[in-house]
Amino acid sequence: ADTSEHDFIVREKRNTRLCLTKKILTVNGKFPGETIYARKGDTVIVRVHNKAKYNVTIHWHGLSQPRNPWSDGPEYITQCPIQPGANFTYRLFFSEEEGTIWWHAHSGWDRATVHGAIIVHPRKGTVSPYRKPYKEIPIILGEWWKADVREVIAESIQTGAGANISDAFTINGQPGDLYPCSNQSTFTLKVKHGKTYLLRVINAAITTEFFFAIAGHRLTVVGNDASYTKPYTVDFIMITPGQTYDLLVKADSNVGGRYYIAARSYSSTVGIPFDNTTTTAVLEYAVSANTPAFPFLPDYKNTTAASQFVAGVRSLATEAHPVDVPQTIDERILITVSVNLLSCEPGRNCSGPNGDRLSASLNNISFVTPTTDLLEAYYKNTSGVFGTGFPDQPPLFFNFTGENLPGFLLFPKTATEVRVVEYNTSLEIVFQGTNLLARENHPMHLHGNSFYVVGRGFGNFDKDKDPLNYNLVDPAYKNTVGVARSGWAAIRFRAQNPGVWFMHCHLDQHMVWGMNTVFIVKNGNGPKESLLPPPPDMPPC
Ligand code: C2O
Ligand code: CU
Repeated sequence: ADTSEHDFIVREKRNTRLCLTKKILTVNGKFPGETIYARKGDTVIVRVHNKAKYNVTIHWHGLSQPRNPWSDGPEYITQCPIQPGANFTYRLFFSEEEGTIWWHAHSGWDRATVHGAIIVHPRKGTVSPYRKPYKEIPIILGEWWKADVREVIAESIQTGAGANISDAFTINGQPGDLYPCSNQSTFTLKVKHGKTYLLRVINAAITTEFFFAIAGHRLTVVGNDASYTKPYTVDFIMITPGQTYDLLVKADSNVGGRYYIAARSYSSTVGIPFDNTTTTAVLEYAVSANTPAFPFLPDYKNTTAASQFVAGVRSLATEAHPVDVPQTIDERILITVSVNLLSCEPGRNCSGPNGDRLSASLNNISFVTPTTDLLEAYYKNTSGVFGTGFPDQPPLFFNFTGENLPGFLLFPKTATEVRVVEYNTSLEIVFQGTNLLARENHPMHLHGNSFYVVGRGFGNFDKDKDPLNYNLVDPAYKNTVGVARSGWAAIRFRAQNPGVWFMHCHLDQHMVWGMNTVFIVKNGNGPKESLLPPPPDMPPC
């Protein structure tokens, strides 16, 4: 195992997109940021120097951070932010992941521009289950606002309404040929006929899931969220914010020429404006003046296409890459996932529905982010920072996805409530979407732990019938699960990573509105079963 070191200088840099130049927050002046390469077993040290005017933190999305939440990154959950002029050193232990994860800012909406890929190769002396590709390329899907993203989110918090939609989607930072002033900078992947390429696709967008495809080429999924999958050949994928897919693409077109690589929103929110534009890159055999062929992408509302794709993603489940799905569970936690309202404070003028402001909740508790570090409060036994009442009661058994939901549920309570679990508990979490205010997909992400997605469905979860149809043999192993609009998703994992782990919707608007909670996994008794001590340089609040 090796140790490598990186310096991340967080600073503003001028960038031009869509005929407009503005300053954006970057790491080392790049957008997207640089790729970190590691091998399973390695340690990576990242020294973050904050040379910007704002607080910042960095999260290593999909890295389990065994016993070391101190380096996980979500602001006020596992650390106080790194203040302007200050430094913090993240220590990353690559213990179980193999494939693609990524890093991003975890403070406000900074991750819109502060993100990059992390590629984890197999441990020295071992190989991946697929043949070594000719080349591997990160494909980062993102978004671009003409306005300053800090102002976009600040305005939405101030008005209590939804944030303005972005002005472009991007592939590797570029909007592509279909947007104004963009066709000179479209990302181009030059290929050689007969070679196989590994695309490491990351959805770093803030507001939407994507359908993604390449004209004239099929995609073979071989990994997701840094775990191997059974090879699964499709014409398009659907990827939620936070997820990654590793795709093998064979450059086997006999015609040659140029083909569009394209991504378009999959956002089935009913009645809410969304961005229906398409971002493109180009797969190029040879330069030509012809317009590239365009791939088929399902319509933005096509929930059937999305769920059919997702249903086909299975863990590899071989001797070399086994699965360890809990066949029995100690506890099932049902969590309702809702967009809600909160009343506008007196003297404030909110422009959400009925003069209220929009909010979001898990189990009808809208999470209030503490103003001091929750992990430190847990470690030092400081009271008054959080309560342990999540979920405080089983959710009321109304018809979650019916039409006439009890109106009082529109207004959740607001609190900083966490869930404490004993070491080694086998947990099942069922995320239940509701039709309370907006019917939307919710990509639910858990820090510190990957999980098996054992079941998904539409309508209300039925605790007697649905578990009979679970896949306990080769379910996908992920860190972010898409809970479909008016549907549910069930995950299972063993709580074997002592620490404080954030769980939230990876649509950042929902996160800001409170669609979050925290799981605290207690120490076990064994020598390697307890939380590591904090490093000496934890930033102060
Ligand atoms: Cu990718 Cu808590 O985030
Ligand atoms: Cu959500």
